[in-house]
Amino acid sequence: MMTSNEIREKFLNYFESKGHTRVSSSSLIPHNDPTLLFANAGMNQFKDTFLGISTLPYSRAASSQKCVRAGGKHNDLESVGKTARHHTFFEMLGNFSFGDYFKREAIEYAWEFLTQVLGLPKDKLWVSVYEEDDEAFNLWREISKVPQDRIVRLGEKDNFWSMGDTGPCGPCSEIYIDRGEEHSCDADKCELGVCDCDRWRELWNLVFMQYDRDEHGNLTPLPRPSIDTGMGLERIATVMQDVYSNYDTDLLRPIIAFVEDMTGKEYFEDERGFPFRVISDHSRA
Ligand code: ALA
Repeated sequence: MMTSNEIREKFLNYFESKGHTRVSSSSLIPHNDPTLLFANAGMNQFKDTFLGISTLPYSRAASSQKCVRAGGKHNDLESVGKTARHHTFFEMLGNFSFGDYFKREAIEYAWEFLTQVLGLPKDKLWVSVYEEDDEAFNLWREISKVPQDRIVRLGEKDNFWSMGDTGPCGPCSEIYIDRGEEHSCDADKCELGVCDCDRWRELWNLVFMQYDRDEHGNLTPLPRPSIDTGMGLERIATVMQDVYSNYDTDLLRPIIAFVEDMTGKEYFEDERGFPFRVISDHSRA
């Protein structure tokens, strides 16, 4: 079994081997950004670099960023404990290009890392692209050879990412793993892009950063197209540790065990376990 510490290290190592500078997570409290209460993505600390306001001594970076999504544009609070995959606090593994590489390399790196370094089964992986993004669609076909019926085109709600109401944004492409038909829900159409159940586990989001959105919603092209990606450490840990829920990974199960010890009550994976999951998520946050 691969521990979460090993997964994090493999990720950072892989991107270092591809010329990326390893950067520490920023504080959860973003300094110098009045638009955010808590860091909500790995790209936050690079916002000004994406916007061309400041420059860094490197054009490629990788990090494991501490994030909280409990309010604002990205808010998972109400899903915590109900799904197998949402948290308030989580760690986001990300690689970034500041006007260096763009879509092709972002897709190549993500595919190589998942299928070669982590050894995920190619036939379980699905991809979504922004509905108008033929370039990303064709690159996925060429690089991954994923059959076209496993590349889904989705609209702005799913496949156009922005950190908040204003700031850097762009079309994105997400990589999912199908946890198996046996995990289908009761919905009429338990299909990727239609159904939001735990069968379809979004692992990694590749954002093709191209615009700056102002307070009126106008999009201005960024000085240099860039890359911002994010993969939830807790989610990839479920796959590598062959468990179904993030709460059964080495990141959260020990906290649940601690709650069991404290309360003398047993944890169950079904609805009865809801308070255990909420307590372990919130206390970790
Ligand atoms: N910033 C992108 C996200 O949070 C990668 O999904």
